[in-house]
Amino acid sequence: MVEAVLLVGGKGTRLRPLTVNTPKPMLPTAGVPFLHHVLAKAAAAGVDHVVLATSYRPEVFRNGLGDGSLTVGGHRLRIDLVTEDEPLGTAGGIRNVASLLEGGPDEPVVILNGDVLSGHDLAAQIAAHVSAGADATLHLTEVEDPRAFGCVPTDSDGRVTAFLEKTPDPVTNRINAGCYVFRRSVVDAIPAGRPVSVERETFPGLVAAGALVIGHVDPAYWLDLGTPAAYVQGSRDLVRGLAASPALPGPVGESLVLPGAQVAADAVLRGGTTVGSGARVGAGATVEGSVLLDGAEVGAGAVVRASVVGVRARVGAGCHLDGVVVGDGADLGAGNELAAGARVWCDVTIPAYAIRFSPDQPSS
Ligand code: GDD
Ligand code: MG
Repeated sequence: MVEAVLLVGGKGTRLRPLTVNTPKPMLPTAGVPFLHHVLAKAAAAGVDHVVLATSYRPEVFRNGLGDGSLTVGGHRLRIDLVTEDEPLGTAGGIRNVASLLEGGPDEPVVILNGDVLSGHDLAAQIAAHVSAGADATLHLTEVEDPRAFGCVPTDSDGRVTAFLEKTPDPVTNRINAGCYVFRRSVVDAIPAGRPVSVERETFPGLVAAGALVIGHVDPAYWLDLGTPAAYVQGSRDLVRGLAASPALPGPVGESLVLPGAQVAADAVLRGGTTVGSGARVGAGATVEGSVLLDGAEVGAGAVVRASVVGVRARVGAGCHLDGVVVGDGADLGAGNELAAGARVWCDVTIPAYAIRFSPDQPSS
């Protein structure tokens, strides 16, 4: 038996307004809550008991994941859900669920960030941790710009020599990929009852104390879905099969259309687009590399690229969206043009032809 803690308590502020109603790990991604991809991956690696460390909007997890067990990707998982009264930070969240862990002091506990899409071999990481007799084993991946992550240098034996969270001066491109294995006793040693950061306190403390902390490098597909652009990319990579997941609810391809969606015969869906349940795409519309959440509507002739259209939001006829987030329930009148990271808040109404990049006035 292997058990895992999923850290899912963050507010997902960089993804607002998508996370106003839905915490980041529960955002539909390629047709299922993002967490299903993480859970299916954990289950495939031999995890059979998961504790969710929640804080922000715990009821969405409770309502969405059912009654203590879930079958994902053909595996059955036991799920416990714990909610922090106040956010306890990453290590505080782990410590707060310790009483629900069932393994002995030397057993491995897998910790997973709830917003990472990773193709790495988790079973191999657990095996490396066990065979080294390590206190902690971190999955490391390489990114072009490590400044937004935890920078993790190692020595020639793969032993972690420092942990530098979000440093402006990274010493290596190797970063904490948000999946680590702890010896159970390391979890119990985290101070209880106060906020603790695993990145700023626990990892640096372990290294300073001479604990055996190992970096497990695996260069497989990896993405942190913390921003709208990354969320859209993760969704389309799953739909197109560039990121594999046992939880994908359909065959890989240019689009994933969920049951109950209506797509006009001459509309074009491509680039790994997802059309949510009850969503509608009008005549002659093009939707490329985008996410239409449940009940979203794209009007006739509209062009939607690399964008997210929220639950029951409406994009009017002839609109052009490129790199845009439209919040749940928002209503964009016909002929609007939005681009470059624009975010329309939930339930906002924008009149027809109100925002344009083009100099023409097609309505006059
Ligand atoms: N339970 C609980 N309580 N969970 C939390 C809390 C909290 O107070 N704060 C954050 N989390 C969860 C988030 O929901 C997320 O799943 C995870 O912890 C990491 O938080 P993020 O806010 O996504 O952190 P980050 O992406 O800036 O940085 C982290 O992940 C990077 C890899 O994606 C760090 O661990 C970096 O070192 C790492 O490189
Ligand atoms: Mg993150």
